[in-house]
Amino acid sequence: AMNVHMYRHWTVQENIRRLKDRGVEFIDPVEGLLACGYEGQGKLADPADIVEKIQSLLVKARDWSGRTVLVTAGPTREPLDPVRFFSNRSSGKMGYAIAEAAQRRGARVLLITGPTHLRPPAGVEVTAVETAEQMYEAVMSRMEEVDVIIKAAAVADYTAVQVAEQKIKKSSDQLTVQLRRTPDILAEVGRRRRPGQCVVGFAAETEQVDRYAQDKLVRKGADFIVANDVSRSDIGFDADNNRVSVFGKDGFVETWPLMSKRQVADKLLDLVLHQFFKKGQE
Ligand code: C5P
Repeated sequence: AMNVHMYRHWTVQENIRRLKDRGVEFIDPVEGLLACGYEGQGKLADPADIVEKIQSLLVKARDWSGRTVLVTAGPTREPLDPVRFFSNRSSGKMGYAIAEAAQRRGARVLLITGPTHLRPPAGVEVTAVETAEQMYEAVMSRMEEVDVIIKAAAVADYTAVQVAEQKIKKSSDQLTVQLRRTPDILAEVGRRRRPGQCVVGFAAETEQVDRYAQDKLVRKGADFIVANDVSRSDIGFDADNNRVSVFGKDGFVETWPLMSKRQVADKLLDLVLHQFFKKGQE
């Protein structure tokens, strides 16, 4: 609560927005006569309203308790020689945001992550991997014990057939590297899943986002595919914000407005809880 001009000032508003993006909840000041004599928005909310909001937040805060969520995040690195690798532009931000949100909402969270610059959220069990093959092994070894698998990782599709033991020298003008397909972890998860397990995949596309996402839903046996357009630099890879469309098995489609990855994470968890586990409807 504060003076209305102070509250409306863009510095304050920008800081509030930043905190909201990080997941901080606000109980906004209300309109009325302010202590300084001005009228406007800046008055402390009614204490009864404050208590009610806190109570509802606390209930929502633990709505994932009793469930285990496995999240994969970040890129993979496919080595070429001891110092070089193939990788991609994934930052891991989306997967980490999901892991953090699920943990905050009471879930047990297993995060299987490729190399990123991010600090793993507190309270989350982290397995660090480098290659697609290692991520595959890690996911397969843990998938039985979880209720939901969210594959936000940008797994490399190809890996070098041969990894040189020594650093490759620039002895010729051209270098040909032979690549082979990596295991499709999501498709294998889709095959091995048990009834009642929810599988969520991501689709990072640069064109025909919707068509490829629909196709992936079927091909990978996922319950939901979260599709985003990575041809834009302000959303998708390495950005803090994302605009996604979510496709569900039974024809469900929703396009969400541009929002922070934290907010996408929470909305996705809401969706899985209500659409898949039917929580709140029983
Ligand atoms: O086929 P595509 O790579 O576009 O599919 C993306 C989805 O599949 C993501 O959820 C990604 O984590 C997953 N994936 C995977 N293993 C691969 C390739 C992609 O699990 N080898």
